[in-house]
Amino acid sequence: MNFISKFFNYSYFKKNAPSAFKKTYQDMENSKAYKKYCQELHGTDYRCLNTLSKKQYLKLKEIIKEQSPELLLDIGSGNGKLTSSLAREFNFKAHGIDFALCPSDEAGVTFSKDDIESFKRNETYDLIISIDSFYMIRNYRKFLKNLKNHLGENKKIILFFTLVNNSFNNSPIPKALAKLRLNYEITEFSEDDLQFWQKSRELLDEMNDEFVDENHFKLWNIKKKEADKNISLHSTQQTHRYLLIIN
Ligand SMILES: C[S@@+](CC[C@H](N)C(=O)[O-])C[C@H]1O[C@@H](n2cnc3c(N)ncnc32)[C@H](O)[C@@H]1O
Repeated sequence: MNFISKFFNYSYFKKNAPSAFKKTYQDMENSKAYKKYCQELHGTDYRCLNTLSKKQYLKLKEIIKEQSPELLLDIGSGNGKLTSSLAREFNFKAHGIDFALCPSDEAGVTFSKDDIESFKRNETYDLIISIDSFYMIRNYRKFLKNLKNHLGENKKIILFFTLVNNSFNNSPIPKALAKLRLNYEITEFSEDDLQFWQKSRELLDEMNDEFVDENHFKLWNIKKKEADKNISLHSTQQTHRYLLIIN
């Protein structure tokens, strides 16, 4: 029964998530209030859909600076704004993959519409990142093996993600990493994540009129429900936020 419900959730996600994400990206793009919300919450000058706090965003940049990649792969790149902004700031070439959107290519940055569970590219990359983009992975070993196959020697994979109803140690991820004999470092950002959601809720409460005036109540409501849900999950330690660096 559990297997059947998991299968239906998975099929439902694969069928419906791309169009749902696409619609949200369109609404975000048309909303000035959303741009301001991202500036305040994430410290970005562009619109994004991840849940990186300012602290986590700085950590990501610190690792990128340390690694100084020439060619980076962004798994689940969404509207591509994060990929392009990092490419400009750290002067690397990049490719982004997402099943919802394929943004226009820019100088040194290209995109393709693909599924991150099954993509295949001809290049190998100096750094692979994935920011809040792997949900519903059916087989972590297969997923991570595919990422590793796209990675140059002695290069790293950086994954920021949230696990609900599971800690990293109890999830299938460490087993998959062990089977693949991959070394990794895991850092928990759960306390910071709670502060992030509290700040998000405060901002949304302050900015309700701005979203409503531009006819973007629906977008406001998606973010508000997300903030309420995450704050509630934190109150019972049911959600955990992680940075996983795979060598
Ligand atoms: C929360 S957004 C994060 C986007 C981006 N990484 C950012 O930081 O703004 C998650 C993205 O992952 C993409 N995604 C989720 N599952 C995917 C899959 N199996 N294949 C391709 N893209 C996927 C969604 O379309 C969405 O754009």
